[in-house]
Amino acid sequence: MDKLPYEFHDDRREIRFDRFDLPAPWINYLSNGRMHAFVSQAGGGMSWWLSPMMFRLTRYRFYNMPIDSPGFYVYLRMTDGTVWSPSFRPCETPVDFREASHAPGYSAFTAKKDGLTATLKLFMAQDYDTLVWDLKLTNESGEEISCDVFAYVELSQFLAREENILGYYLKWNTRAVFDEELQAITYAYTAWMHPRKDESPLVTFASDAKISSFCCNRDLFCGNYRDERNPVEVQNGRLSNTNLQGGEPCGALHTHVSLGKNEAKQLHFFLGVTEGALSDYDKAIAGAKETLTALRKEGAVAGQFAKLQSWWADHLAVYQCDLPDEDAQRMINTWNPLQSVQTARYSRSISSDASGVRGIGFRDTAQDMLAQVYRKPEWATEMLWYLASQQLEDGHAIHTAWPEEKRPPQDITRSDDHIWMVYLAYAIAAETGDLRFLDKEIPFLETDLVTPVGSATLWEHMLRGVDFTEKHLGEHGLPLILFSDWNDHLGPFGRKGKGESIMVSQQHILALRQLAELAEARGERAEAFDRLIEKQEKALEQFAWDGEWFLRGLDDEAKPIGAHTQSHARIWLNAQSWMVIADACREHQLEAMDSAARELDTGMGLLLNTPGYPGWPSKEAAMVNGLPAGYSENGGVFCQANCWAIMAEALLGRGDRAWKYYKQIIPNEVIKKVGVERYHAEAYAYCSTMLGKDNEKFGWGCVSQVTGTAAWMDVVATQYLLGIRPTLKGLLIDPSIPAEWDGFTVERSFRGCHLTIRVENPDHVQHGVKELSVDGRTLDLARGAIITDDRITNCQSAIVHVTMG
Ligand code: GLC
Repeated sequence: MDKLPYEFHDDRREIRFDRFDLPAPWINYLSNGRMHAFVSQAGGGMSWWLSPMMFRLTRYRFYNMPIDSPGFYVYLRMTDGTVWSPSFRPCETPVDFREASHAPGYSAFTAKKDGLTATLKLFMAQDYDTLVWDLKLTNESGEEISCDVFAYVELSQFLAREENILGYYLKWNTRAVFDEELQAITYAYTAWMHPRKDESPLVTFASDAKISSFCCNRDLFCGNYRDERNPVEVQNGRLSNTNLQGGEPCGALHTHVSLGKNEAKQLHFFLGVTEGALSDYDKAIAGAKETLTALRKEGAVAGQFAKLQSWWADHLAVYQCDLPDEDAQRMINTWNPLQSVQTARYSRSISSDASGVRGIGFRDTAQDMLAQVYRKPEWATEMLWYLASQQLEDGHAIHTAWPEEKRPPQDITRSDDHIWMVYLAYAIAAETGDLRFLDKEIPFLETDLVTPVGSATLWEHMLRGVDFTEKHLGEHGLPLILFSDWNDHLGPFGRKGKGESIMVSQQHILALRQLAELAEARGERAEAFDRLIEKQEKALEQFAWDGEWFLRGLDDEAKPIGAHTQSHARIWLNAQSWMVIADACREHQLEAMDSAARELDTGMGLLLNTPGYPGWPSKEAAMVNGLPAGYSENGGVFCQANCWAIMAEALLGRGDRAWKYYKQIIPNEVIKKVGVERYHAEAYAYCSTMLGKDNEKFGWGCVSQVTGTAAWMDVVATQYLLGIRPTLKGLLIDPSIPAEWDGFTVERSFRGCHLTIRVENPDHVQHGVKELSVDGRTLDLARGAIITDDRITNCQSAIVHVTMG
């Protein structure tokens, strides 16, 4: 195998690249929670404020070539006219050395040429909505160096969809001018049609270095039939000092730098926003001035960077592990929780693949927040309350919402959306031990999807969800598929309104179990839930078993979906794993999971179902909405579904197999097998899908970054594999690990106490705890290996010893 183009530096939580023409942009997100950007290993990227759909600040050419452009570009023009850049793009001029790195919250690009080293570090200021470009130039050439530095961004018309369709009209509503007093380019998009015109920001692009020239007109900056890779104004060594009133805007700033022998200089560019350019221009200008004055102060940038680093340090410190497995440890400690923050922020909306207009999915966000519960429970609670406000009075939830865009949500009734809310609520209750958030009053949505109607507590919202499922059962007593269940492409089996979903039945059971536990903890009776569980279990016992595995459902004609008699999609992964997760049909669980191993495990992930339906023009292609065989929900390795298989094996105590499944879809592991060209996507972030065996590009990672795999891998690794799992009764210690491990350690905060959990595995078992002590006091394991609150109340830290066996 060729040398990999990257290396992990775990001590710095960093990935470093030494090759940049990767098969796709490998991105990193920069954010302070309000202003956001992503940037690739090559320097390409995009920025937005609050929403990538409403307030897109800079452009990125999705789907088009040249890929991964434009970005946040710095050009260095030497006196002989050579132009190069710290990042691989824009110039691609050969340099003596080049490196790039991503780490939580920042990316850095270094290049050396003829004794001059340029390092550009990009990060989002934490107290100001500003992308900081921290540029350091070091002269080691032994001679004086003088060069011209240009910084460049292409500005966008804020409204991403409208820009795509109507940009040729709307570009006359752009205004970018150099403000002498601010020493900054100021940009406003003035279109009357902006739905949030009042907030519409003033964008500024400025520096703390002396500006020698500027340009606000993209087309002039680049020149006719050129682009940002060879802009004519940089070539000329001076920008044209052009303002722009209508047209294609950009921010280009020029400063001159002289460096003595061995001298280093640091300068900064600031791409920032201030709210309210259109509603109160003077105020916006004053706000921009305040920000720039603050950021131009000595030490301000370093201060903002330190703040960013401490945000990540605190966030990650909540759970850290020490394992005899480098790849797993790296994912669990750094890259997986990093990605989980991104999906919690961006749902499935924005990446170098995803164009930023999708809003948030109800089921998606409910799952994404599961990975925030143990690190930021308040954030997860806020999101849960918001989701509940997107539920209708009949108990079903809308499917897609645009909270930031304040657009009406989209309601195509799925059978599962509302159910995911319960798991999030349970997880929050288990993490915090505090049930009061369930009593929060939250309105329902009117069927017009805009007006809030009658409110109820979150608890009652969840009961409405149960009602909805109960009122939408099919002839066999199993929940109807409706438009689809979790599997977006299951719908064709239930288009006539009669198809039933076994996965939703399993999900319903899990939700009912959790509600029963919550009810008891609230001092309420749980019998009603128990009766419904029993009823649903009976239906599954009667209809779900196919002889070697569980069916996925019944179609409109009551024919089984996922049966051995079928030629396509004979077995579906989720139906097997979720039976274990729901803890139903116990007698067949092991056999079902063995069948999944035999039929679905490719050694590089488990297929969602197999064999895939043949693609178009076969008639059967309609059953999977035309997806080609081997892709995604049609015989692909759907990574999120792999998480549930891992979870199921862990619950069954089969640590060896659970870890095999876990390890084999860690991107870096896949890349070690198939190489970067084949895998395509980031080595440090999960993909939604890998192409399955039915596809000639088996192993190709599709839709990276914004996927439910992030949160589920996070939850599954920390709570089911390492097995440190909050429950309503306390913290359950239930590891499922490879038998060969001697043990591992986890540092984890729980209900205000910092726990150091040392797990030893002297008997080399895969599962089972035989001894547990907290600060030297041995616990009685009769009621499970659970650290109850009384063991850790009022203590800031405790040492937990666990002996497996
Ligand atoms: C995509 C969707 C998610 C769905 C899954 C399976 O990831 O975002 O909502 O559950 O596909 O179809």
